[in-house]
Amino acid sequence: MPSPEPLQEIASLREQLEAWNHQYYVLDAPTVPDAEYDRCMQRLLQLEQQYPQAWRADSPSQRVGGQPLQQFGQVTHEMPMLSLENAFSAEDMQHFNRRLLDRLGEDAGPLEFACEPKLDGIAVSLLYRNGELERGATRGDGTTGEDITHNVRTIRSIPLRLRGEHFPAVLEVRGEIYMPKAGFEQLNNRARERGEKTFVNPRNAAAGSLRQLDARITAERPLQMCCYGVGLVEGGQLPGRHAEVLARLHDLGFRINPESAVVQGVEACDAYFDALAVRRNSLPYDIDGVVFKVNDLALQQRLGFVSRAPRWAIARKFPAQEEMTRLLDVEFQVGRTGAITPVARLEPVFVGGVTVSNATLHNSDEIVRLGVQIGDTVIVRRAGDVIPQIVSVVLDRRPSDALPIEFPDKCPVCRSAVEREPGEAVWRCMGGLVCAAQQKAAIKHFASRRAMDVDGLGDKLVEQLVDAGLVENVAGLYALSKEQLLALERMGEKSADNLLAALQHSKATTLPRFIFALGIREVGEATALNLARHFGNWPALAAASEAQLLQVTDVGPVVADHLRQFFDSEASMRVVQSLQDAGVHWPDIERLPQQELPLVDQVWVVTGKLDALSRDEAKAHLQALGAKVAGSVSANTTCLVAGPGAGSKLSKATELGIEVIDEQALLQLLATHGINP
Ligand code: IVH
Repeated sequence: MPSPEPLQEIASLREQLEAWNHQYYVLDAPTVPDAEYDRCMQRLLQLEQQYPQAWRADSPSQRVGGQPLQQFGQVTHEMPMLSLENAFSAEDMQHFNRRLLDRLGEDAGPLEFACEPKLDGIAVSLLYRNGELERGATRGDGTTGEDITHNVRTIRSIPLRLRGEHFPAVLEVRGEIYMPKAGFEQLNNRARERGEKTFVNPRNAAAGSLRQLDARITAERPLQMCCYGVGLVEGGQLPGRHAEVLARLHDLGFRINPESAVVQGVEACDAYFDALAVRRNSLPYDIDGVVFKVNDLALQQRLGFVSRAPRWAIARKFPAQEEMTRLLDVEFQVGRTGAITPVARLEPVFVGGVTVSNATLHNSDEIVRLGVQIGDTVIVRRAGDVIPQIVSVVLDRRPSDALPIEFPDKCPVCRSAVEREPGEAVWRCMGGLVCAAQQKAAIKHFASRRAMDVDGLGDKLVEQLVDAGLVENVAGLYALSKEQLLALERMGEKSADNLLAALQHSKATTLPRFIFALGIREVGEATALNLARHFGNWPALAAASEAQLLQVTDVGPVVADHLRQFFDSEASMRVVQSLQDAGVHWPDIERLPQQELPLVDQVWVVTGKLDALSRDEAKAHLQALGAKVAGSVSANTTCLVAGPGAGSKLSKATELGIEVIDEQALLQLLATHGINP
């Protein structure tokens, strides 16, 4: 028998680690640095190895997965797991409400509803006996599901034992296991880098991760669980309203959706739905609708069930984000840097709230990966303002006359050679500024609002100017005459005057805008700003060696190389000279040595929506003042800039007692250091 001390240490380590898990994964409020967590976990693993008799299935050390299973066991649900009726409009909601009132009697209204986002994941049941997680199961067909206990144990937001003392002897908790969008992107990016198959959407990724015989794989996947109700309850009582039950589950250690709300009457349900629809895409997880439930459990009982769904609940759906359509053709577009992008022309389809007739195919690797052919039926996904994507091919619908997609071996616009650099997925036209497509794209970029901001010089006009041979590069814009403009189709006296005035006006610019406007590869707005602040003037920048360029915040070897190539190109420098000769000018910027910058040694984080600045700009300005800008809040964060919609970063900062300021305060701070964006 081991002495009591190590056993006590094991118990207290387990308790401590589970408390940290709960703070981190359920409350979104971490309290200790990762390193401390890791140290305690290492110590626990060491002690458990030394004292195997202390083994317990609910030890936090078991969340990494054990021996793979041969096959899944079957589970018969004590209470069937039902589905929900759907509503697609406010009218459907009125009918739902009418049916409820008809059954309950008019004096029952207006009814109280619990509203919850409908998470798009996998429904699961968790059975706790005497507070210990005994079994996890999928919904399956509603009656029989699969035993996934070994997998759910690896999900950190699922408590292995219930918190507190007061809970029913048998408690079945139900909810959705899902993969947050960020985790899904990361998982897919990693798969892409390794040339492995990617998941079509977060839901499939969650399902695939959960359906693993080897729980060690599940343990590595960023899965979450959010609870929305209970099944079997024995030997104890829960509160009388759905929302209170959820609050109780939260106290017992479960994650519940922070967007949940209780409202009175069906009109308030509609308002909740509309408000959430606006925010749908900015939520960190996919939802496909809102579930409305009669809040009073006694009323739920009276309402009962029809076939496989409760009468007391309904799921109002958002427009689908995935639809099927046909690939009609593939066109190849040439971008500003010569990159050739295959664009799918689709039979128009309503998806993600808009009609989509084009989707990006990214590059030739993507075409190979999808195995898509012209004529195929494809699944198109459009989530929010993300460019529509083809996520998969419905192979059994392939017509006999489907055609393989041939990637062009010459530039489709200027017939120059195409090449791809080793290790790159993108083919590029080598025509450079000879290529009309590249000319047009470069001029559009130069004139755009965040670059030289030439008002009235839209895409159509740029195309006309290049097609008519009036302009070949950006310098040509400033040589345009009124007569030349008037000769263009649909160009009146007034528009011509306005355009010339706008061109004249654009000549007074700033160094960061000018650098950005040149369209050097990989040099976006933030990098342009960093370059301008670092070098202070154009000649210093243009003369900078690769080593000097590498000193600039956020500039790595690839960007430095693109910059040097640009400065070494005679043609490019001739264009810059002509621009300056035409009168384009900007003030120099005062520069300070790195060590003397006011925010040196500080770590800042920016989150939420900003108004006057993009987050990238805010980041670049802070960097220009010497601060490091990090992606997540931790104990060594100096200050968090939080705009509306700030979520877990804000709660974490508050928890850790870190200074939080809003955009207005940031602008003031920047102004005191002479930055007036
Ligand atoms: S309640 C008897 N609430 O939607 C009530 N379901 O179409 C059954 N779902 O299989 C479910 N979020 O996987 C409920 N807040 C939520 C939900 C939710 C997602 C899923 C659940 C169920 C499906 C029903």
